[in-house]
Amino acid sequence: ENILVELKENLATITINRPLKLNALNKKTIEELHVAFKKLDENKAIKAIIITGSGEKAFVAGADISEFADFNVDQGTELARKGQELLFNFVQNLGTPVIAAINGFALGGGLEICLTCDKRVISSSASIGLPETSLGIMPGWGGTVRLPRLVGFNLALGWIVSGTPQSADKAMTAGAVDLISEPSSLRKDALTVLVDLATNSPEFLSQRTTKLGPAAITSQEASAAAEDACNAVRSRQGENYPAAFSVAELMVSACELTRDDAISLENHAFFDVTQTPQARALTGLFLGEQYVVKQAKVRNAPFAATSQPVAYSAVIGAGIMGGGIAYQNALKGIPIVMKDINQAALDLGVSEASKLLDRGVKRGKLTEAKAEAVLSQITPSLDDDSITNCDMVVEAVVELESVKAQVLASVESQLSSINSVITSNTSTISINRLADSLQRPANFCGMHFFNPVHAMPLVEIIRGEHSSDQTIAAVCAYALRLGKKPIVVNDCPGFLVNRVLFAALLGMEMLIAEGADFEQIDQVMEKWGLPMGPAYLSDVIGLDTIVHCYSVLLKGLPERFIEIEPSRSSQVLFDGERLGQKNGLGYYRYSKNEQGRPSKTADTSVIETFENLFGKAKAFEEQEIVSRIMGAMGMEMVRCLEEGVVASPTEADMALIYGIGFPSFRGGICRWMDELGLSEACAMGDKYSSISPLYAPTEALRVKAAKGGTLY
Ligand code: NAI
Repeated sequence: ENILVELKENLATITINRPLKLNALNKKTIEELHVAFKKLDENKAIKAIIITGSGEKAFVAGADISEFADFNVDQGTELARKGQELLFNFVQNLGTPVIAAINGFALGGGLEICLTCDKRVISSSASIGLPETSLGIMPGWGGTVRLPRLVGFNLALGWIVSGTPQSADKAMTAGAVDLISEPSSLRKDALTVLVDLATNSPEFLSQRTTKLGPAAITSQEASAAAEDACNAVRSRQGENYPAAFSVAELMVSACELTRDDAISLENHAFFDVTQTPQARALTGLFLGEQYVVKQAKVRNAPFAATSQPVAYSAVIGAGIMGGGIAYQNALKGIPIVMKDINQAALDLGVSEASKLLDRGVKRGKLTEAKAEAVLSQITPSLDDDSITNCDMVVEAVVELESVKAQVLASVESQLSSINSVITSNTSTISINRLADSLQRPANFCGMHFFNPVHAMPLVEIIRGEHSSDQTIAAVCAYALRLGKKPIVVNDCPGFLVNRVLFAALLGMEMLIAEGADFEQIDQVMEKWGLPMGPAYLSDVIGLDTIVHCYSVLLKGLPERFIEIEPSRSSQVLFDGERLGQKNGLGYYRYSKNEQGRPSKTADTSVIETFENLFGKAKAFEEQEIVSRIMGAMGMEMVRCLEEGVVASPTEADMALIYGIGFPSFRGGICRWMDELGLSEACAMGDKYSSISPLYAPTEALRVKAAKGGTLY
């Protein structure tokens, strides 16, 4: 089912053949490989075996996590042990020489297969690596044992701890492969190496023996190397990704052991690490990414036969967002009209796109000719009729409902096809209300990009009550072509991401109004894992935008978003003409550092103002700060799920990961609540619900908690 075996004279070639799954190893494939290797080894006519992957992209992309994610400890330990018995140790112990012809990336279990082989020939375009630590886990099929015995302990440790894949050249320099081949001659070259090996068997057998013994290092040397590697990880990402530390510790403990003892140690360590919350979060995220793309494709499937991909798009408004949207379309090969009422805005939009392309050229990501070709895809225009033939339009003019309503109606009247889709990049205005200005509201929905457009992966696609399934499907497909991650949500105040983000920000504002020190809040939340504390984030978003978004939420969800006494800190700052980073004054004061980037320092005048209003700053327990900020976000997300604003916890969590840089090791707010336990989450909510109804658990959540349920 999952492999092909070809016999030619005395040579056998096994091809792992699950191209749609990038040849990922699942239980069935391992079993089939076992049977094939066993029969070939028993067949005295077969003198040598090549193993390779189908297609050019992947040798094997790793273990099929979708199949293994739900395993408990016992099943998982058994799978790793069984995998060794059936495949990895089995191949290494065969009497017949085996060569890996690495046609594409060989990652995780893929590289672990190659490591069991006698020799490795790699295509020049392929790469190899053990990226498990980036999923919060560690290699479990002998990678921590075989790699150091092949390339040396220090190098193997570096590769495994960092999880970084290595190019064919780097693999060759390290001695991890024996030959680099052009993709077209890979099999021929593998055969040459194999014939050489098969006719020189004593050498290959003795090479195998060295790989059965300890690694060539003392445990003292290994400990020192591990300490350095762990310190490097700590300085990069703190203590939040513990798999790297666990694998370093394991490799030190196993370095003086024989292969079999070391593998048995790896087997236990592997399943300890899979049971950490970080492993659940990071593997969940890996699957979540695939789920988001799949959902977009599933939505599009019913219309695939009749609908055409976007041929010509338009963006109305050439400001910060419009310019970014035009750039992204052009970059992905979709010609776009960028329309504004102001020539200076058009010039700025084009020059911003041009700057981004220049940066790409400087970094070697594209050639100058390509950059010019991309820029020529943007047609700046002041004329209304320039958009007539566009089949997809993104409105990105100023955030004023009356202006948007008028612009949308005018756009609709210009379009020649009644099937063209119109979207709005509004961040706060109701999609249902904007749809009132259109004759064909079925062809309209929200398309909320995040700033800066080229860098932020999320696009929130907002379904209005009249938006058709076909429109949503077309916009999802368009977002995917732009290289973005579409998440469909229903129209509501703040949509999904801002609604839950502003619950958290209001949580911060309530703390500040009780005398909390916003610098302490930022420090605690950054330590918790947020890329920026909430006060700093407010400055980056801009306090004018913050104040505007609050007004929408206070009006739209007045039962929970309630004015704070004596006042909201963001409003106080805004009233004092502090707009955040954009005018250098917000919660903090900003000046340009040596690289020309804004750098923040405390501002005594803000501290004094807050003291006068909210009393002398006092320290809060870290736990309370986290509970009151993330608890508010969590409960609002629960409501979004219950109201059907977002369809699943997976999409909810992915929206926060892509949209606000929610820490990946926590996996998202729903994952955080599940890890906390829903009973505990309800208790946390009850503790603070007298401060604000934002914290009050819903009845459905209590029922779920009582049954021992989870959001996922
Ligand atoms: P901006 O103020 O930088 O640009 C708005 C542009 O629209 C200006 O160039 C203006 O000349 C143009 N414009 C105004 N009336 C027009 C008309 N009738 N026809 C054509 N062009 C017209 O605004 P920005 O920041 O780019 O925001 C645009 C939209 O994107 C807003 O709805 C905003 O809420 C939304 N948004 C903004 C984000 C941000 O961080 N700036 C993030 C996500 C969404």
